[in-house]
Amino acid sequence: MLQAIRGMNDVLPEEAALWRSFSATVEAWLERSGYRAIRMPLVENTALFRRAIGEATDIVEKEMYSWRDELNAEELTLRPEGTASCVRAAIEHSLLYDGPKRLWYGGPMYRHERPQKGRYREFYQYGAEAFGFPGPEVDAELIVMCARLWPELGLNARPGGIRLELNTIGSADERARHRADLVSHLRAHEGRLDADAKRRLHTNPLRVLDSKNPAVQEVAAKAPPLMGYLGEASLAHFEGLKKLLAAAGVEFALNPRLVRGLDYYNLTVFEWVSDALGAQGTVCGGGRYDGLFAQLGGKPAPGVGFAMGCERLVALIRESGNAPAAARPDAYVIHQGEGTLECAFAIADALRSAGHAVVLHAGGGSFKSQMKKADASGAWAALIVGEDELRAGEISVKALRRTEDQRRIGRGRVVEEFAATMQRIKA
Ligand code: HAM
Repeated sequence: MLQAIRGMNDVLPEEAALWRSFSATVEAWLERSGYRAIRMPLVENTALFRRAIGEATDIVEKEMYSWRDELNAEELTLRPEGTASCVRAAIEHSLLYDGPKRLWYGGPMYRHERPQKGRYREFYQYGAEAFGFPGPEVDAELIVMCARLWPELGLNARPGGIRLELNTIGSADERARHRADLVSHLRAHEGRLDADAKRRLHTNPLRVLDSKNPAVQEVAAKAPPLMGYLGEASLAHFEGLKKLLAAAGVEFALNPRLVRGLDYYNLTVFEWVSDALGAQGTVCGGGRYDGLFAQLGGKPAPGVGFAMGCERLVALIRESGNAPAAARPDAYVIHQGEGTLECAFAIADALRSAGHAVVLHAGGGSFKSQMKKADASGAWAALIVGEDELRAGEISVKALRRTEDQRRIGRGRVVEEFAATMQRIKA
């Protein structure tokens, strides 16, 4: 039997309902926060990601779904993240011509990682990106937005819930000066580094600080802190951000080892982390990327943003027990006897047009078995069209979620009468 690709998930109807309510909450929150939707293609030129994310990153080195489109002689890649495409689109369409922009997107991303709980090869993100704002107030805005979203999703902010880790990685110049000293420190302890750290030592030494290996962590802990290399402007940006977070009452832990896995960042970097998810606990990550516009050939413009992992947040909501109850249809229409199907069909059609959620029974069966299906559907009411009703020009209504006598309503007034019935039985 053919199965889904490893690391790519079906979301079955029960779970899909949770996804829909999650998406509705997140999208409303993004719009309410002043961010406007943008949609980018799932496929881009491979060069875009190589340049934006960086050659010496896990994503570019080993996780991209890339191929050559022989028909057009193009090197293409399924997007592993949204920031590069979003910046590309802003440059291509001159989105900043009339001032800064706040944008959001959502959709699937693709990374050829080793699948495990919370880590998939196709996964969904919501991302927000603010272009053209140099000051720390938009870094703070993005972080505070997230802090307000978690409780709206039924998730706890601290304690014991989702916590914020924060760091600043300064400017490219500051990192270059730090890099020289970092590399000499790591070289001096090269014997205690694992293969990955040894490789990173030459390609991307800052990432060594991020290692999960305890022996490497020990070496990293004694490395010269990047903070000591930051100049006045970088420190002022960080102080400005921390002040705004404090004023908003958003707690954070400074994590000097937080460097993120993509190379475009400068200054602010942050992650929201949950301990309830096992090894893949980061539910949202982001930071500032003031060099990316120029790096992708655009007019220089500052940028800052985040992306959240939907599978991880949906899992947290499910585990929290705060998942919204499944939506019920208003009515399940059952029909039996000569000529009743046409009538039932027309009634379902009319009620749907009037805004009701209606399931029309299909597939025949006895009155009793249809009634059972009506009950199992979770509907508020069964609408019954039998030969008796047909003759009388009426429809029977049976409330399924409370005890109430079965009633008849006139067929000609079914829309009005059903609306009134719904109001009563849902109350
Ligand atoms: P990222 O940290 O690579 O950042 O991904 C953001 C979030 O996507 C992660 O925190 C995680 O929740 C989720 N995620 C990443 N990989 C997977 C996976 N394989 N399976 C499930 N979930 C995953 C970015 O993508 C940046 N573009 C964020 C950003 C936007 N920075 C600035 N603006």
